[in-house]
Amino acid sequence: MKAIGVTEFGGPEALQVQDLPDPHPGAKEVRIKVRAAAVSPTDAGVRTGSYDMSQSTSPYLPGMDAAGVVDEVGDGSVWTVGDEVMAIALPLSEHKGAYTEYLVAPDDSIARIPAGSSLEQAATIPMNGLTAVQILELAALEPGQVLAVTGAAGTLGNYLVQLAKQQGLVVVADAASKDLELVRSLGPDHVVERGDGLADRIREIFPDGVDAVADTALLHEDAVPALRDGGVFIAVRGWKGEPARGIRFEAVWVFSEYHSHDKLDGLRRAVEGGVLTPRVADVLPAEDAPEAHRRMEAGGVRGRIVLTF
Ligand SMILES: NC(=O)c1ccc[n+]([C@@H]2O[C@H](COP(=O)([O-])OP(=O)(O)OC[C@H]3O[C@@H](n4cnc5c(N)ncnc54)[C@H](OP(=O)(O)O)[C@@H]3O)[C@@H](O)[C@H]2O)c1
Repeated sequence: MKAIGVTEFGGPEALQVQDLPDPHPGAKEVRIKVRAAAVSPTDAGVRTGSYDMSQSTSPYLPGMDAAGVVDEVGDGSVWTVGDEVMAIALPLSEHKGAYTEYLVAPDDSIARIPAGSSLEQAATIPMNGLTAVQILELAALEPGQVLAVTGAAGTLGNYLVQLAKQQGLVVVADAASKDLELVRSLGPDHVVERGDGLADRIREIFPDGVDAVADTALLHEDAVPALRDGGVFIAVRGWKGEPARGIRFEAVWVFSEYHSHDKLDGLRRAVEGGVLTPRVADVLPAEDAPEAHRRMEAGGVRGRIVLTF
């Protein structure tokens, strides 16, 4: 089968077409004939060797999101050949990442694609959707409490704002002027200009500070002053601030959502219900993975670039 991966970690050009043996599912697993794999910042980390890949083998395949059609089922699987599914994939695991023609996936790492969505759209949902769900669980806010989202124009920010509104939270989102229309379309209660002085602008609206900050833009200490005493700061790459003012520092890790079928199925319903909007920035053939990574790393992409097999 064809896959896209690296044998030597490096820049986008390190992503090369690989010819690998066709995998087969074990018990309670399926094999997906992958049609679409989304390209995310984490994939660049796999490509450059930023993660511990000792549970996997070379060539290392990036990609944490796939959508396609079940074409083989293992013993005891609850899925049927022909099911159209979306999957969270784990590049660090024995099954490797989603940049592949055939992906073996545990039964509980997949869900049906949303009715009315294409496979390309569905491929943008699992990883960032599950991350947004985990952020909301860590924040543990009640309806009416206030969540600030940095990087709201990004894919994780998009999904988080939409899911937070569904939970009845008050949401303040940041946006550059050029992204105002996009960010407003997600339905936040307040939109503030992104960049330097963000915390001050949030405090102008909420003088005592907000209940939680989800920092998808990696602003770290610059975003902490937006929080009230005793608020929650949720980092997306493990950053933790100095303990002060009773602030609880949390870090989201989507790797732990590999067996989260029920949450993934909840995301399917959220798309079908119009709560969550899958965003595809562009669709490229899998061989163009280096180009997709270059564009992603240059910034300014809105929605996910999706590779097709
Ligand atoms: N820990 C986990 O399990 C986990 C899971 C998912 C994602 N993540 C991380 O979460 C982050 C966001 O992911 P993503 O997929 O949403 O990435 P993305 O689509 O690239 O979005 C990031 C957004 O942040 C914006 N941004 C950059 N600098 C900013 C600033 N100073 N102020 C405000 N916005 C700024 C970017 O705008 P420009 O394009 O204009 O730069 C972009 O819109 C990434 O670092 C990713 O690795 C972690």
